[in-house]
Amino acid sequence: MDSILAYLADNERRYVDDLFAYARIPSVSAQPKHAPDLKRCADWIADRCRAIGLTTEVHPTASYPIVVAKTPKHDKDKPTFLVYGHYDVQPPEPFELWDSPPFEPVQKGRDVFARGISDNKGQHLAHLNAVEAWLKSGQELPCNITFLIEGEEEVGSTALYDFLPKHKALLACNAVVISDNGIPTLKHPALTYALRGIAAMEVRIDGPSRDLHSGIYGGSIENPAMALCQLLGKLRDARGKITIPGFYDEVVKLTAYERRQLAKLPTKPNAYRKFLGVPELFGEKGFTADEQRTARPTLEINGLTSGYQGDGSKTIIPSWAKAKLTLRLVPNQTPKQIIAQVTRHLKKLCPPTVKLTVTPGHGGTPYLVSPTSQLAQGALRALEAGFGHEAILTREGGSIPIVSAFKKHLDADTLLLGMALPDDNPHSPNEKFSLDAYAAGMRMSAHLWPELSCAAFACDCGSDHC
Ligand code: BES
Ligand code: ZN
Repeated sequence: MDSILAYLADNERRYVDDLFAYARIPSVSAQPKHAPDLKRCADWIADRCRAIGLTTEVHPTASYPIVVAKTPKHDKDKPTFLVYGHYDVQPPEPFELWDSPPFEPVQKGRDVFARGISDNKGQHLAHLNAVEAWLKSGQELPCNITFLIEGEEEVGSTALYDFLPKHKALLACNAVVISDNGIPTLKHPALTYALRGIAAMEVRIDGPSRDLHSGIYGGSIENPAMALCQLLGKLRDARGKITIPGFYDEVVKLTAYERRQLAKLPTKPNAYRKFLGVPELFGEKGFTADEQRTARPTLEINGLTSGYQGDGSKTIIPSWAKAKLTLRLVPNQTPKQIIAQVTRHLKKLCPPTVKLTVTPGHGGTPYLVSPTSQLAQGALRALEAGFGHEAILTREGGSIPIVSAFKKHLDADTLLLGMALPDDNPHSPNEKFSLDAYAAGMRMSAHLWPELSCAAFACDCGSDHC
């Protein structure tokens, strides 16, 4: 292990240069104008994989390419682990809120600012660098490793959902490793054993056939924007508890053990409040902020559009109003069941004075894996070795829907080993990645392969390379 860690330290400067080069590519999957950049980005990461000696294929899809890269000389007597990542990034807008251009990475102290650098380029690059260190320092990896890097995670992974069942043999593995999530601080490396699911939908209210003079007609017909607000307002109480009948029926209760684990997170309510810039915290009664944001379901309005948005005033009754909603789900809720419940309830509540249309969007089931398995214990040891601090168990509120598809098609559990910090600003202006997290993530990954290999074979040799 010493020679691998030494290789990582010796190559630190080049690894930072690679991170800059990767982050410079504007691979925004939501925006069709960036299609050539996504292709270029897939080629960039595929070239990196080839440069370290991986057998690499770039699979074209109906949208953006999927990169599959494998360690050379597949050994069927060794376990295989699949590292998943995504090279696509969220849109950077609004540009004016960035302190530096989103695709011109800038280092300030130990942080590098760029769109997608934390979510998720830096995190899977750290694994690739660690595998390079194993291969180039002449050490024999105790396992086979397959990298699977897609370009559509931020828009629903459509191509990958199609690719997975058709390439089960190519992607077969004992477990999946994903670093596309966070840790509370560099001193609290964490194994995330649960993610929330998601159900997206659009709700549209149509009223008059055109925008109308609100003085001439106001009072005699319903206002679609008001009707939508009143409808949405009835879905939740003032503390955030959802009031849709049956909504909590499938929710699995937090165990006392889980509550003790979540209580170990270093969140301080007042600091949390200040960090998020809110006058006061909010949330379901009887739960801590960490429980509320990771282990309880929610209903959020992501976008609300209606009427006149320009300068000054325009006295109209808008013809229509629209809301984009997502619900975050917890075990054992499913997107299908939740979308049906919300739709049924909205239909029941909607007044006859307007027309309601509900359009379901993407969905993902919540994920929960045993935090006490041999693999999880191995991952905890690798986290401790890489970050130099005791590792904790945590749940997270974000969603990585493809994780459930890995379980379904590859019968593999996923270990979530995040490297992002709470102030990394994923999906927000001024996204950044900490070079200390990058370096610790590489060390963690270097330690991970022997740990997971021993765990996969239930080996108790106690060495770091059996
Ligand atoms: N990296 C995130 C997911 C994440 C973030 C998990 C923080 C845990 C903690 C991922 O790129 C993402 O943004 N996922 C989307 C999924 C959606 C587009 C289906 C999300 O959670 O909003
Ligand atoms: Zn994301």
